[in-house]
Order: sequence, then structure tokens, then C-alpha cells
Amino acid sequence: MYNFKFYAPTKVVFGRNTEEQLTDLVREFGGKKLLIHYGGGSVIRSGLLQKVKDQLDSSGISYVSLGGAVPNPRLGLVYQGIELCRREGVDFILAVGGGSAIDSAKAIGYGAANEGDVWDFYDHKRQASACLPVGVILTLAATGSEMSDSSVITREEGLVKRGYNSDLCRPRFAIMNPELTMTLPDYQTACGCTDIMMHTMERYFTNGGNMEITDALAEGLLRTVKENALILRRDPGNYDARAEVMWAGSLAHNGLTGCGSDGGDWASHKLEHEIGGLFDVAHGAGLAAIWGSWARYVYRDCLSRFRKFAVNVMGVAETGFDEEIALRGIEAMEDFYRQIHMPTNLHELGIEPTEEQMADMAHKCAVGAGGSIGSARKLSEKDMLAIYQASR
Ligand code: NZQ
Ligand code: ZN
Repeated sequence: MYNFKFYAPTKVVFGRNTEEQLTDLVREFGGKKLLIHYGGGSVIRSGLLQKVKDQLDSSGISYVSLGGAVPNPRLGLVYQGIELCRREGVDFILAVGGGSAIDSAKAIGYGAANEGDVWDFYDHKRQASACLPVGVILTLAATGSEMSDSSVITREEGLVKRGYNSDLCRPRFAIMNPELTMTLPDYQTACGCTDIMMHTMERYFTNGGNMEITDALAEGLLRTVKENALILRRDPGNYDARAEVMWAGSLAHNGLTGCGSDGGDWASHKLEHEIGGLFDVAHGAGLAAIWGSWARYVYRDCLSRFRKFAVNVMGVAETGFDEEIALRGIEAMEDFYRQIHMPTNLHELGIEPTEEQMADMAHKCAVGAGGSIGSARKLSEKDMLAIYQASR
């Protein structure tokens, strides 16, 4: 077990109709002039945005709004948001939507609170010293950005997708009403479940410092999301299943399922971020498409963890050699992806990258990570390319 810090300062307000507590929360955290930031229009169609504006109007809290955060949110809109915040004297950003709106809001918050180009933080050239406070009304259980220290932005030039982590951007509050996720297409629900599981699996498949209590939390979370993802496939209006998945999404990425370990593997995420940057795919689907090839490439180097995952999460029988059990666990995970209609390779994801594009993604991934990635197995640029090639 390694030493660790656990910091999860976000005030979570969870359950039916909790969005009605918005103005109390904004006041509690000192918001006087808000930027409401949202995505491509789902919050307009659902009526949620109007509900938010009506509440702010009747409480006399002033705001400006900026929509248009796309999946794999873009730097160009972040610049627009920063400019708007400066011009309007915004002191609090309210993200209404999924991970893309939240991440874009966090980036705007960094940009408005620091001098210079906000991309420098994502390019790891310098550290932010402040961030405007961010609050969230979540409409998609997936990224955990509502509690996480992370924000992922894509720069249009060169299609470079990069994450930046700092406690400064952790949301002050997160309103989570599972009912708000019921308008999601089944595909996005499944992408979300995949991402949630992957945030915990990235922390689980490591070669350093694992703790029993952390493993027990992680395995319980994985089993719960797996079961409820299957329920939602049959019954998307099931409130309890939506609630299980939504809370799991926050716990999967607020650090809880990584306490005591070496920080996690994160290779699947890093490999996927390059795919998302270049081909603009949904993050969760990209993860499902790359995971099996990654797992087969590394499982021998992290065998005891893959065996444990197979037995404790996927319910594989403990018969045969460890390698066989581990492989059956990987196959069972891929079967699960198929059951929730997630891809298990790049072709099923709908992309056919050329050799040159795969080499480009492997190169950008290696450069972005400072050379190598992974804990289950340390991967060089050559390994990254081999995993992309195996995932076609
Ligand atoms: O844009 P709108 O119109 O709102 O539509 C969105 C979008 O098309 C739609 N949607 C969201 N809530 C809905 C809804 N449609 C109907 N009803 C609702 N209730 O769903 C689509 C996807 O939304 P998006 O926010 O892009 O998805 P997600 O939450 O999966 O976020 C993905 C982004 O987050 C990053 C990913 O890389 C990707 O860029 N990540 C952020 C992390 C973090 N900050 O901690 C960690 C993750 O690993 C991830 O990398
Ligand atoms: Zn993710």
C-alpha cells in the first residue's frame, strides 16, 4: 500500500427534483454573476435549461449563457467562454450537461482566472494558479467530471486532445437527478456505463500498492454498474438503475477506487484520447473498442490482477491455469460490451485508421505522456502502435 491523499470536496445533492435547489447552492458558494455553459441542445429540448433560467430569474441572480460544447470539447469555444466571462464579470460557471460541457466549463474557469493561453495547462507547459468556481447539473452519468480534478480539451489545430488535472477545478457542487439522464439515447447510456467501469478498471489493473479495501470497493462498483447497465438496456426508464449508475460514475472517478495504489494504469484512456481527437468518436465507445486488445497485450504482466478481476467481477470459475482464468475474464468483459451494444474493436467502432494514422496516434500518445504509459505493463510507442494494430 502506498501513501495517498483523498480529496473530494464537491457537495453532492442527489435524487429526484434536486435541480430545484440550484439557487440555494449558487448562493452558498458565492455565485453572483453566472455563466451557464451547456452542449449542443439536449438541455434545451428537455426543458432543463429554461427551468434553470427561470429559477435564476426569480431569485435575482444574473447570468449569461453559452452553448455549443461538443463531445470532445473544443478549445475554440473555451476561448469564447473566457472572453465572455471577462467581458461580463462572471464569477461562477454553471455547467449543465455531460462531461463535455463540464470539462469545457473547467477550461473556461482556468482561462478566466489566469493570464496567458489556457492551452499551456493542457500542454503541460505551466500550472494554473486559480480557477473560477464551477457548479454542475449533471445530465449524463459517465465521466465523473462532476467530482473529478480533470478536464479534457481538444485543440482544433492538429486535433490534439489533452487532459489537465488540478484540484482547483473540482466542482463546488454537483446536482445529480437520475431522472435527467432518462432522455439519453441507449448508445450514450452504454458509453457512460463503459466509461464508469473503465475509470475503476484503470485504477485496478496496476502493479503497485493495491489495497484490499480499495479492491473491494472497486469490484463492488464494477459488478453494480455491469448489472445495472444490462437492466437499462431492457428498461431505460428504470429510476433505481439510473441512480446506481449515476452515483457509481462519481465514485469511479473521484479517487476513491484508487486509494493506496500507484495511481493506476490509464493506458486505455490515453490510447482512446488519441482516437477521440482524430476521429471524434464517443469516449466510452472508444474505450470499449481498444480495451480487449490492450488487455490481451498486457495481462501476463499483471496476471494476479486479471485473475482476480475474472473471478470477482466477471464471475469466471476458478478452474484451470491462471492465464486461462484471466483470458476468460477478458472474454467475459467483451461479451458484456456486446450485450450493451458497445464495440470490441475499431472496425465495430466505425473507423478504419490507416497505418499512417495509427503511427501518428501512437506518436502523439507517447509525446503527450512523456515517453511511456501504463502500470499493468509499461508501454512504449512501439507497444502503443501494436495495440492499435491489434484492435482493428
Ligand atoms: O451536447 P448535447 O446536446 O447536450 O448532447 C449530448 C452529447 O451529444 C448528449 N446528452 C448529454 N446528456 C443528455 C444527452 N442527450 C439526451 N439527454 C441527456 N440527458 O450526449 C452526448 C455526449 O455528451 P458528452 O458530454 O460529450 O459525453 P460524456 O459525458 O461522455 O463526456 C465525454 C467527454 O469527457 C471526457 C471525454 O474524453 C470526452 O471528451 N472525459 C472527461 C473526464 C473528466 N473530466 O474527468 C474523464 C473521462 O475519462 C473523459 O476523458
Ligand atoms: Zn473516461
